[in-house]
Amino acid sequence: MRNTVLVLGTQWGDEGKGKIIDFLAEKSDIVVRYNGGNNAGHTVKVGEDIFKLHIMPSGCVQGKKCIIGNGLVIDPDILIGEIDSLKKTGRNPDLMISGKAHVILEHHKIFDAGREREAGKGKIGTTGRGIGPAYSDKAKRTEALRVHDLVGENFREKINNILELKKHDLVRFGVINSESELDDYKEKIAEKYSRYADVLRPYAGNVPKAVNTAIESGKNVLFEGAQGTLLDVDHGTYPYVTSSNSTAGGVCTGTGVGPDKIGNIIGVVKAYTTRVGEGPFPTELTGETGSMLREAGAEFGTTTGRPRRCGWLDIVIVNYAKMINGLKEIALTKLDVLSGLKKLKICTGYEIDGKETVDFPVYLDVLTRAKPVYEEMEGWENLTKEQIIEICRNGFTSLPEQARRYVKRIEELTGLPATIVSLGPERSATIIR
Ligand code: GDP
Ligand code: IMO
Ligand code: MG
Repeated sequence: MRNTVLVLGTQWGDEGKGKIIDFLAEKSDIVVRYNGGNNAGHTVKVGEDIFKLHIMPSGCVQGKKCIIGNGLVIDPDILIGEIDSLKKTGRNPDLMISGKAHVILEHHKIFDAGREREAGKGKIGTTGRGIGPAYSDKAKRTEALRVHDLVGENFREKINNILELKKHDLVRFGVINSESELDDYKEKIAEKYSRYADVLRPYAGNVPKAVNTAIESGKNVLFEGAQGTLLDVDHGTYPYVTSSNSTAGGVCTGTGVGPDKIGNIIGVVKAYTTRVGEGPFPTELTGETGSMLREAGAEFGTTTGRPRRCGWLDIVIVNYAKMINGLKEIALTKLDVLSGLKKLKICTGYEIDGKETVDFPVYLDVLTRAKPVYEEMEGWENLTKEQIIEICRNGFTSLPEQARRYVKRIEELTGLPATIVSLGPERSATIIR
């Protein structure tokens, strides 16, 4: 399919997917999200306006049709807030939500925080948005609410049954003090979510039909991944992952299209590596260079504001993402952040128990023992805003020579073309090759 593109994260999220999707959305008709929930934070900068999107597909900023697939878990409060904020900027979202997407309920958020608290040192470092508990209930089947149920006639009966089944945990995590408060709590939640249902009802629709019909009629469809390859519940650094499939396979299960419908697959690669939350990170820099990257790259979580852990670019990870997702191209972001460093390092392999490997170790105990093998490269001078504008106007060849070498080395090591190179959060700070 020549008219579909998938953009996803190759690392631990926050690669700059929002910027790239907004950039590509200009030539798209529809932008479709297929996984995650409001744990995602995708930033789009247009002029002085900054949009921090958590659940709305990033194509909404360009006014494109937006679709939320069944693979997502939706916090109605957050979604309605984003729809309202967009309306305030004069954008009336053209949105369809899958009736098969799941709803994050009030207690999911409290259970998420409570479980992290109870886990102590063994915590995952979740965003606390109820993502894990909502997906757990989806898989469990008996205690979940889908958008179709939320907006349907039997909503009250459904929610009452769910809360009845949850009563022990509601007391355990302090949502209610005792089971005698359950009836009042049921009433409160039913009221609150009925109001959400009234707002969201017009948006609920048949997503597989809409997306497949659009693709077959030649519309340009952009699939937007949330999180990144190493946060995928199956292929990531389990258990320090999210609860959905953020990798390419998630598009099929999360929207209802066949694999033959996915055309180009672009992996967003940050020019260095970051991670939020717990878990191993072989190229992590805990000293001065790490702090410099965090400051220069403004590496603080879009969703929780937590400082992101920073480290050198890890090609072992990018090549793993290439294999898992079938990447065809790279969008390299935040190259500007590396400006001014005298020397740069790229991790080309790991040494594990005295042996070198270029394969990403899938099991956590092995990954924890991985020591990065580095290749050193020359850095380039600081670039001013004016220089960046000039470079983007004149194209790749006007980048400083060492920066070009860095990009070309990434292409050599991955065997993938870096067709998009990003030098700033704005649309204009982009080189297309
Ligand atoms: P996402 O979750 O992958 O969409 O990424 P986030 O939006 O959470 O984090 C990326 C951050 O980097 C955002 O603040 C973007 O505005 C910003 N950003 C994106 N591309 C670039 C770039 O090329 N250079 C710089 N300096 N910032 C960028
Ligand atoms: P975007 O789409 C970075 C991380 C959390 C935590 C783990 C599990 O902006 O790239 P969860 O709340 O999902 O149960 O948390 O996953 N995480 C992200 N890290 N970017 C994200 O999304 C993330 N979404 C979840 O920090 O380590
Ligand atoms: Mg983010």
